[in-house]
Amino acid sequence: MAKVGFIGAGKIGQTIAYSAMVSGAVDEAVIYDIIPELPEKYEHELRHAFATRGIKLEVLGTNSLDDVSGMDIIVISAGKPRKPGMSRRDLFVDNAKIMIDLGNKLPAKNPGAIYLMVANPVDMMASVFMKYSKQFTISAGDQVETMRMRSFIAKKLKLPVSAVDGFVGGEHGEDAVVLWSTVKIKGQPVDKYNVNKDEVTDYVKKIPGEIIRVIGGTTWGPGTIIADIIKAFALNENRVMSIATPREYEKEIIHVSAPTVVGSSIGPSLETLLDEKDRWSLNASMKDFYEVYKDNLKQLEQTMKA
Ligand SMILES: NC(=O)c1ccc[n+]([C@@H]2O[C@H](COP(=O)([O-])OP(=O)(O)OC[C@H]3O[C@@H](n4cnc5c(N)ncnc54)[C@H](O)[C@@H]3O)[C@@H](O)[C@H]2O)c1
Repeated sequence: MAKVGFIGAGKIGQTIAYSAMVSGAVDEAVIYDIIPELPEKYEHELRHAFATRGIKLEVLGTNSLDDVSGMDIIVISAGKPRKPGMSRRDLFVDNAKIMIDLGNKLPAKNPGAIYLMVANPVDMMASVFMKYSKQFTISAGDQVETMRMRSFIAKKLKLPVSAVDGFVGGEHGEDAVVLWSTVKIKGQPVDKYNVNKDEVTDYVKKIPGEIIRVIGGTTWGPGTIIADIIKAFALNENRVMSIATPREYEKEIIHVSAPTVVGSSIGPSLETLLDEKDRWSLNASMKDFYEVYKDNLKQLEQTMKA
């Protein structure tokens, strides 16, 4: 069990917090947001839900960041979401400023905590938060795409989702890549089945935009999936998940997803087990991430100086 801080009580923050709490992974939770009364009223909602389920859990909703103290893991979903038609990378400067502010404030009261980034562009926000806070930070990365991929293939082949294994890697979002060498159906290589790979890739890239267009944001999918990352950490499950852990590239810390063991310690990454083509895709993704990240950091520094 873990003490979990949730920074941001918007659509995705609420869904992750609820899902993590009812999964039995959390023994104490503090939920913080800047909107007056929002976390406090959300706390009431949670207490009502726990009453019917008989869940015993310490929970506090607050507008004071000082209350986020002594946490084991801090989940950051504070920040602007995409509007229809926007790319995640369009959010970089606005959300990076929030990460720098939080990165300056959170570590003092949370020694040893690990940070799980959710706000977009999620991998770049993890890198910014880690650069400024100097704290170990992971990104929810492509575990969300991984479950989108598995669910789509299962539906197409009319199989239970438990029959489909495999991972999506690279940067979360439009540039994520299906790591086909990891994809197995009933334990067999994907090529033994009639799977249209382009259709799978297209679905994984486009479905979040479609959900945002109609529903206004993605919540239940990523909310449950990211709660499972917290659960894997809190209950030391050692589950393999496609999250992004920090890695050095051209002297910069960057975050790009690969299948990784998630327990009370994070890692190792299993990317050495990928075939050559998938390793090449991951390397290409890192290079692309680095180029864009470097330009975005420059733009951020300019706006901070102005
Ligand atoms: N990684 C993923 O898979 C994934 C999935 C869904 C959403 N997201 C991202 O998560 C972020 C939040 O999305 P949402 O749909 O919940 O948006 P939202 O607008 O519903 O919620 C954002 C919340 O952040 C709060 N906030 C802003 N600045 C803050 C600060 N400095 N401290 C604390 N709270 C602050 C806002 O008050 C708001 O309640 C977006 O960047 C979105 O793109 C990521």
